[in-house]
Parts: sequence; structure tokens; C-alpha cells
Amino acid sequence: MYRTHTCGELRLSEVGQSVTLSGWVHKRRDFGGLSFIDLRDRYGITQLAFNEGIDPEMLSKARLQNREFVIQAVGIVVEREKKNTVLDTGEIEISITSLKTLSESKIPPFTIEENTDGGEELRMKYRYLDLRRKRVRDKLLLRNKISMSVRTYLNSNGFADIETPYLIKSTPEGARDFVVPSRVNSGQFYALPQSPQTFKQLLMIGGLDRYYQIVRCFRDEDLRADRQPEFTQIDCEMSFVEQNDILEIFEGLLRHVIRDVHSQELGEIPRMTYDMAMKLYGNDKPDIRFDMTFIEMNSLVKGSNFTVFENAELIVGIKVKGCANYSRKELDILTNFVKRPQLGMSGLIWMKVDDNGTPNSSVNKFFNEDSMKNWMTAFDATKNDLILILAGEKNKTRKALSDLRMHLAEKLKLRNPFEFAPLWIIDFPLLDWDDESKRWVAMHHPFTSPKPQDLSIINEDPGSVRANAYDLVLNGNEIGGGSIRIHEREMQAKMFDLLGFTKEEANEQFGFLMSAFEFGAPPHGGIAFGFDRLVALMGGDEVIRDYIAFPKNNSARDVMIDAPSKISNSQLNDLSIHISNNDVTN
Ligand code: AMO
Repeated sequence: MYRTHTCGELRLSEVGQSVTLSGWVHKRRDFGGLSFIDLRDRYGITQLAFNEGIDPEMLSKARLQNREFVIQAVGIVVEREKKNTVLDTGEIEISITSLKTLSESKIPPFTIEENTDGGEELRMKYRYLDLRRKRVRDKLLLRNKISMSVRTYLNSNGFADIETPYLIKSTPEGARDFVVPSRVNSGQFYALPQSPQTFKQLLMIGGLDRYYQIVRCFRDEDLRADRQPEFTQIDCEMSFVEQNDILEIFEGLLRHVIRDVHSQELGEIPRMTYDMAMKLYGNDKPDIRFDMTFIEMNSLVKGSNFTVFENAELIVGIKVKGCANYSRKELDILTNFVKRPQLGMSGLIWMKVDDNGTPNSSVNKFFNEDSMKNWMTAFDATKNDLILILAGEKNKTRKALSDLRMHLAEKLKLRNPFEFAPLWIIDFPLLDWDDESKRWVAMHHPFTSPKPQDLSIINEDPGSVRANAYDLVLNGNEIGGGSIRIHEREMQAKMFDLLGFTKEEANEQFGFLMSAFEFGAPPHGGIAFGFDRLVALMGGDEVIRDYIAFPKNNSARDVMIDAPSKISNSQLNDLSIHISNNDVTN
């Protein structure tokens, strides 16, 4: 038997017992005639004591055990003289009677401790060593806990976990596909699913009624902190439901998870239309833990000699409470923030309300005190408040002010990671104009149904048609998105037509779904959560990488196994793929 207990288990109640432990040497401390080893496993750390008077042979054996050696130790649980209040096992130690090396270790390339000296890339290369660190391991254990919580909730609500294929058909919609060449169908390719969207709809047509899957998805897109090329969705679909049914069920899921993980009770989740979110926050995933909502000022400022405002499509500002004491230098930094090429604004206008309630602004020349007092009323600004204003083209200005708002929230520490403020965004536009390809693209995906009341304008004003689509936003992150689907062939054909598909293309790519609609398709809808994002947020982070056991780096590489990599000429031949200069040896 390798062990009777784990390294996190023993307490004063076990004093006097003979125990066997196995684990990694976390640290060894040697003094004259005694040594201590901190033994570590997934569950914790226990101190092994090689006390004074111990058999010298045993002591020298203990001193051969270096960091990360795997050892087995037998001994008696004794009460410690000096207790360690940080460790769960800190009241006891094991007085060792025998010791065995199970596996030796080279000196690890970085220290395996809470604060490691290893850089990102090195820790990725030796991910299995990084996983030995508690803070990394805990993230994966949190992931497991949430996965169990999600499964419990969904199963108790009648959802069946059903697998869908990974080798599917490539389609041009959405992100780029990862493709897999077929050997037996020479010259042809599968695609890895960007999501199981069409399959879950076919399961509804197959009468499964409520489906879910915690499923890997693959998208060949640029990486960001909250994006990986392979990531996991909690993918769900339901039949005979309207939008409200879906929002209620999945609001319940988030409530259940937050209760399980953080013992916090969420109130009702607010719902906001896409248009309102853009107007009040300048983006469709607002962080509502703090205020600084947008106040549009066009009607307040038009008609002055200030050309920046006169020429602007939108003049909009935020109130930064109590920050009128910002120095010139601090305001310059904020101005440079919005002037960066990514945001491209020409400048930032400010107004401060002083101790006496008198306004003073960077545009004093153009606006008298009365005008500025009107601004104060609009912003509900009082003593010591700062107002920051941007002017320009509507979408660009909204984006810049939204980024500035988030920047200020970070600076003012308004983003407490363990305060959870979810929000539904509803009534998304059905279509989005793609300037590059000069055509409409589906804002969510082509299977999303338009709102019936907007159908009358679908031909003359497709851009104004709203969809039965919704996102779940948590603390400024999109954690889920879904829609009520089209379930009629005619409507689906119309949608493909709007998206610029010819009849042949639509048939070639999605004929299977259109045919299925001819055999009795129930009204249905669903949602998919970004599981990695949900887990990271529950862990108090916005970067998902550490919550994935073996993630890819910023260049979409797995540096541990060194993938992607070249394949041999014989493999290429099997697949009928010809690459000039495939300089591999075989
Ligand atoms: P969507 O494309 O919005 O919807 O994806 C659902 C959720 O998945 C997460 N997500 C990602 N997470 C990590 N890395 C990525 N590269 C990544 N891309 C997306 C987001 C997002 O909200 N089939 C539809 C769902 C439906 O309509 O039911 C879909 O895939 O949190």
C-alpha cells in the first residue's frame, strides 16, 4: 500500500497512529542532527520529522531526498511543538521510521511554490510541473466543481447529455475552421466544429427535447485573454420554448453555480436591449458593477462656436465621481489613452466641479457657466465630480468612451472580482454589415430567427430587423449567447438569401438542415456558455488560460508537446497532400 492517508488529512486526532504517506518533496530543511521534509500531494503538505536521536543512516537517507523526488514515508503522528497555523496539517508532524525513494527528480526548471520564478513560456513548456502548484491545481479543481454543478442542475431539469461528432463539414460562416484531411476520401476534408449548432438543432427535430453537452469547440481565430483556439462550451438546446423560457432556465443555471461555488445568492438578472446597452455603455457586454453610464449631450451643446462639437455625430460623456482633483498630468494620460491609434479620438474634454459647486472646463472659452451648470444637471454632478466628454462619429466615440470607462474602473478599483453582476442583453440586431465583403452577415448565426414583428421590414431595411437572440454578460464578459431558431424551411432559405448565399450554396452547405425542416421541426432555441470564461470568472480572473489543463500559447502553439508540427511525407502521401519543401527526414 502506497499510503494510508493523503498529505492534507492528518490532524491532532490522529496523534499516536502509525501512517504511511506518499508524495513529492516540497522542501527539505537540515539542521545539525535533524532534518525536516515538507511532503506535498494534491491535498496538502505534511511535515516529516527526522528528529534528534534518529538512526544516522535514516538521517543521511533523508538528506538524499531533493526537491520533487517522489517518496514514501512511514512514521508516527506526533503533536508539533511549534505549530504552523498556515498549514491545515500544521498541528502535527510525522516522526519517521522508514523512508523509500519512489522516483528521483532533476532540479526543476522553476520553483514549484506559490510565487514561482518561472516565466510564462517556461511554465507552459513544463505545464505538468506548473500543475503541481496549488494555485494552478486549484483552478482545475474549481473547473471540475463547476462542471459537476452544471451537470447536476441540467440533469435535474431534464436535459440529456448527448455527444455530437467532431469530424464535420466545413462551412464559411463564423470564424475560420480547423480542417482535417480525409485519407479514405482523397482530397476531401472534415472540419472540427466551431460549435455543435446544427447537430443540436437536429437533435430537437429528432425529438430529444432537452439536450446539453459540455463540449470542445474549435475556432481558428486570433487569440485574446478570453479566447483559445480550442475551448469548451456548455451547449444547450430546448424544444417548444420561447425566449423567456430559455432566459429563466439559464438564469437558474448561473444562480445554481454561484450558490454552489461562492454561497452567494443572485437576485433577478436584469435584462437590457442591445440598443440600450450601446447607448448607456457603448458596448454589448457592459460591466454593471459600477455606474459611469453614458450621458448623450448633443442637445445640450449644439449651437456653440466649438467646432469639435458642431461637427460631431455624437457628443457623450461620463461622470467620474469625486475625481475633480485629477491633475493636468492625470488628465493628459487619459487624453493619450483615447488618442491611441486603437481608439483614434482627437481629444478628451473635461469639466470639473470645484468645492463650491462651480464648474470649470477645458472648453470654458466656448461655454459659459450657465451652460455648464446645465451639463451638471444632466450628469447629476455635484462638488468634486469630474466629467469626461468625447465627440465624434457615433460608433467610434461609443467604443472609445466604453474603453475609457473600463480603464477608469480598473484605476479606481471598482471591479471587485468576487462581486457578480450578470445581465441579459436581448433584442440583438439580426444582421451586421460587413464592410470588407460588402454584405450582411448574421450577427449571431444564420439559424437565428428574426423577431416576427420586424419581418415586414426585412426586405427594405434588413439592418433594423431585430433577432430573438440574447447574450448573458457577467462583469463585462460575454459568458453565453443563444437564440430562438428558425424552424421553417422557407424562412431559413430567406435568411441564406439575405446573407448572400445562392440557392445552390445554401443547399450544398446546409441542405441537410433544410431537408430536416420538412419533416416536422419543433419550435426550438438554445444557448451556449463559454465554460472556460465562466470558470475563470468564478475564480476571480478574466484570463482563461490557467483554467485549461493544457492550453495553447499566444501563437496558438502547445509548446509542451510542440504542436502544430510537420508531418512525414508518407503521411502526406496517404492524405494526397503535396507540399513543396516539406523538409522532414522520412
Ligand atoms: P457563440 O459563438 O456566442 O455561440 O459562443 C458561445 C460562447 O462561447 C464562448 N466563446 C469562447 N470562449 C473561449 N474561446 C473562444 N475562442 C470562444 N468563442 C466563444 C463565449 C460565447 O458566449 N452555437 C452558438 C450558441 C447558440 O446559439 O446556442 C455559439 O457557439 O463565452
